[in-house]
Amino acid sequence: MIITIDGPAGVGKTTTAKKLASKLGYQYLDTGAMYRAATYFFIQHATDTSSENQVKKMLDILNLKLDFTSNDSITILLDGKDISLLIRSKAVTDAVSKVSALESVREKMVKIQKDTTKNGNFIVEGRDIGTVVFPDAKYKFFLVADYDTRAKRRFKDFKIVNEEINVNKIKQDLTDRDQYDSSRKLSPLKQAKDAIVIDTSNCTIDDQVNQIYKHIERN
Ligand code: DC
Repeated sequence: MIITIDGPAGVGKTTTAKKLASKLGYQYLDTGAMYRAATYFFIQHATDTSSENQVKKMLDILNLKLDFTSNDSITILLDGKDISLLIRSKAVTDAVSKVSALESVREKMVKIQKDTTKNGNFIVEGRDIGTVVFPDAKYKFFLVADYDTRAKRRFKDFKIVNEEINVNKIKQDLTDRDQYDSSRKLSPLKQAKDAIVIDTSNCTIDDQVNQIYKHIERN
């Protein structure tokens, strides 16, 4: 079974997906991490992402593996090297929206997402999971939160990877990224018609996990 969680950056999708997965005995898949890994790979190889040809060539040699053996996180491996923390850098965060708007990148990532989850119970989180990747999923959730809350959460994320950045700048970046992700032509960030909306602005992580859990339990 697949449960989808979509929504913009900083609404708590990954933490919620992780906790919910452990509560239900499911695995979770962070699809944003996959677009970040592709972005990191392109940066490492100085790929000209405006050239469709170059992007396709590089995608052919992209050796991305997802390791689910750890209990509470996915390890992202590029050519066998753990890049799970490296993909959270500011450089990757700044470049990932543009990379995730490329058709060949989306095709490759969606294929990996479908292949990876085909034999298991998964919570899959991202932007287009309930609308494009798994439109028939039984349970779909769309998380939202106000900009102040989201910026504070992102601030903490950057601290983890030792990058200092001003909260107001983060807020502006979030606004720009939402605008870009929601208005792109391919698989834009959008709430599925049948998704349940959860506002996480004033919620603890446990609150938001429980709200989702109750919906699943009730049905
Ligand atoms: O959730 P995140 O911030 O790690 O996502 C990184 C980027 O990837 C974000 O700009 C949107 C994009 N993304 C996407 O286009 N489709 C997804 N399913 C997941 C993420």
